Amino acid sequence: MAIDKAVLPVAGLGTRLLPATKSQPKEMLPVGYKPVVQYVVEEMIGQGIGKFLFVTGRKKRSIEDHFDDDPELESRVGAKDRIGEVDYDRESVEFFYVRQRRPLGNADAVRLAAEFVGGESFVVGFGDTILASAGQPGVVRRLVYDHESSGASATIAVWEVPLEETSRYGVVRPAEDGAGGAFAIDGIVEKPAAAEAPSRLAVAARYVFTPRIFEAIAATDPGVNGELWLTDAIRRLLEWGDAVRCVQLAPGERRYDIGTPLTYYRAFADFALADPHNGPAFADYLRSRL
Ligand code: UTP
Repeated sequence: MAIDKAVLPVAGLGTRLLPATKSQPKEMLPVGYKPVVQYVVEEMIGQGIGKFLFVTGRKKRSIEDHFDDDPELESRVGAKDRIGEVDYDRESVEFFYVRQRRPLGNADAVRLAAEFVGGESFVVGFGDTILASAGQPGVVRRLVYDHESSGASATIAVWEVPLEETSRYGVVRPAEDGAGGAFAIDGIVEKPAAAEAPSRLAVAARYVFTPRIFEAIAATDPGVNGELWLTDAIRRLLEWGDAVRCVQLAPGERRYDIGTPLTYYRAFADFALADPHNGPAFADYLRSRL
């Protein structure tokens, strides 16, 4: 059966963006016209995902409100496309919510999705990271295709980062040549220093898992910062001899993680510059300021 479920962990504290995230979710910060998490949802709807489970937590209720219908607002602004670029009704999209009582790590958030996925493979996407695709098929579709044709337990989107940035991400060790942009791995490390990094290929906030990941999470101990990390659970899969594969972002595809002030500024600037209405005027403004 085609994969149509996605789990979006959005329960983190967003400490690196305080005080902006003190009482509002990081995932609701705007990038241009839309909050980050709306890009994530619309990216996935465009690639065949119809059921979303948000793993939310305290102070995250505005995410639930955001994806509700709002007939009053729609009757005021007239066109629904002023609110979203996707017709959520026509696409028969369904939203589900589960709460993570304490933000104990991204693997702890995924663990809460076991009942929702019900024995099927599923997509995971972090709600604070936009993947900008140049064309079709998008990253999630390529992940799903590789996952279904390889039978791997986990399939991970990765992208190449400068060596000095490996300490910010999970980094994979390819086990074979990545012809065609997809390859098996035999290692993965969370936030390695440049000298210890097994490659420059960093995890890009999108995954496809079989339910085997829940067994691996259950067999994983808390790691860096006392949190339960997906990277550590994936390493457990590798230790068990499960196949784990990666799909690399193509040239022209970009990951925008808005987790730090600088990455947030970069994302906002790129999307504002690409805005067909205000982008050219914004570019003039930036030029005048520089
Ligand atoms: P991050 O580690 O980037 O987010 O998690 P964070 O923990 O909110 O950020 P800092 O380090 O405090 O600044 C990636 C995604 O996983 C979610 C986050 O909400 C984010 O969208 N997450 C993280 C959870 O849902 N639960 C957790 O326990 C941790």
